Amino acid sequence: MRVLVTGGAGFIGSNFVLRARETRPEWSVTVLDKLTYAAHRDSLAPVLGDGAADVHLVVGDVADEALVDRLVAEHDLVIHFAAESHNDNSLEHPWPFIESNIVGTFRLLEAVRRHDKRIHHISTDEVYGDLELDDPDRFVEATPVNPSSPYSASKASADLLVRAWIRSFGISATISNCSNNYGPRQHVEKFIPRQVTNILQGIRPKVYGSGTNVRDWIHVDDHNDAVVAIIEQGRLGETYLIGADGERNNLEIVATLLDLMDRPADWFEHVSDRPGHDLRYAIDSGKLRRETDWRPRYGDIRAGLAQTVQWYRDNPEWWQAAKVHAEQVYAQIGR
Ligand code: NAD
Ligand code: DAU
Repeated sequence: MRVLVTGGAGFIGSNFVLRARETRPEWSVTVLDKLTYAAHRDSLAPVLGDGAADVHLVVGDVADEALVDRLVAEHDLVIHFAAESHNDNSLEHPWPFIESNIVGTFRLLEAVRRHDKRIHHISTDEVYGDLELDDPDRFVEATPVNPSSPYSASKASADLLVRAWIRSFGISATISNCSNNYGPRQHVEKFIPRQVTNILQGIRPKVYGSGTNVRDWIHVDDHNDAVVAIIEQGRLGETYLIGADGERNNLEIVATLLDLMDRPADWFEHVSDRPGHDLRYAIDSGKLRRETDWRPRYGDIRAGLAQTVQWYRDNPEWWQAAKVHAEQVYAQIGR
């Protein structure tokens, strides 16, 4: 099978490609990535090359109609990770989110329709908005979309395009909406790697607002295994929610990191809150578990975080330059 992975130089996409090399060696993989600030080409270094068994990297934009048309025609399956992915950035500069996340998805859908190929669209639980802390219900596939930020609105828009292309044009597509990922190779602008690299540099973790906001954490390998399960066992036209019952508030995550990294429990600071900050996400992944054999392998978040901390300890050359830039951006917005 010839697989086109968009956004394969980013956090989740690069982990997907590295893992697919091991679990699906028979796949021929091409990565299409614009190599934005969020990409790390180095992440793919172990698998890139010109040989038949190597992963090929095409540097380009998913919003480039001609390029996307040619690449989709040459592949059997598109796995669409590419997106601008950081909420804080979307609040400062929304346009790239519209162009990459909405127009880019539109270009892929049209190419998939023209060439009768299959697409799996990667999305997020944030499209459903947020929940109260004491809400007994979690997100399910039928939860109405209700996005809060320019980022989540752009992802909800892309999801709706995919659903419309399924219904109106009968394209072969599936959608997954996953909760917050953690693990190796995540950009240091994101919560967990920002705090891990802060602590490694002797800087206190920075908690937005009260720190009581809840995210439903899942290890990136569990997310990516679920994507493969949906592609191989899911039903065409369906949406699947991916989550591993990992709800923690931000204070709890910081406490675990401080403990793992031998710092006192109160060694962090509160900073100003994110405008429109979603309070809580929580995923009911019952449909995915009923219809596929997928189960999360990282049940223990502490063990997963310990592995993640060790990866950042071992790979300072991977994150140091990006850290300088990310902290300059945060300094400008006062967080
Ligand atoms: P990331 O920011 O780490 O990586 C995104 C990648 O997409 C980068 O390599 C970037 O260069 C590439 N890209 C951006 N715009 C592009 C364009 N126009 N054309 C081609 N490439 C482009 O993001 P991530 O955290 O790996 O997220 C990947 C996908 O998973 C996104 O669609 C995101 O919405 C979704 N998702 C993320 C999470 C999470 O917790 N990180 C959870 C659920 C869903
Ligand atoms: O739910 C899935 C989503 O998870 C994905 O769609 C997004 O691409 C991904 O970025 C993530 O969005 P969040 O906004 O939840 O993730 P972020 O890492 O930015 O923040 C996680 C929580 O931590 C959130 O409540 C804000 C808080 N935070 C974040 C940073 C960067 C802090 O308290 N301090 C920080 O320094």
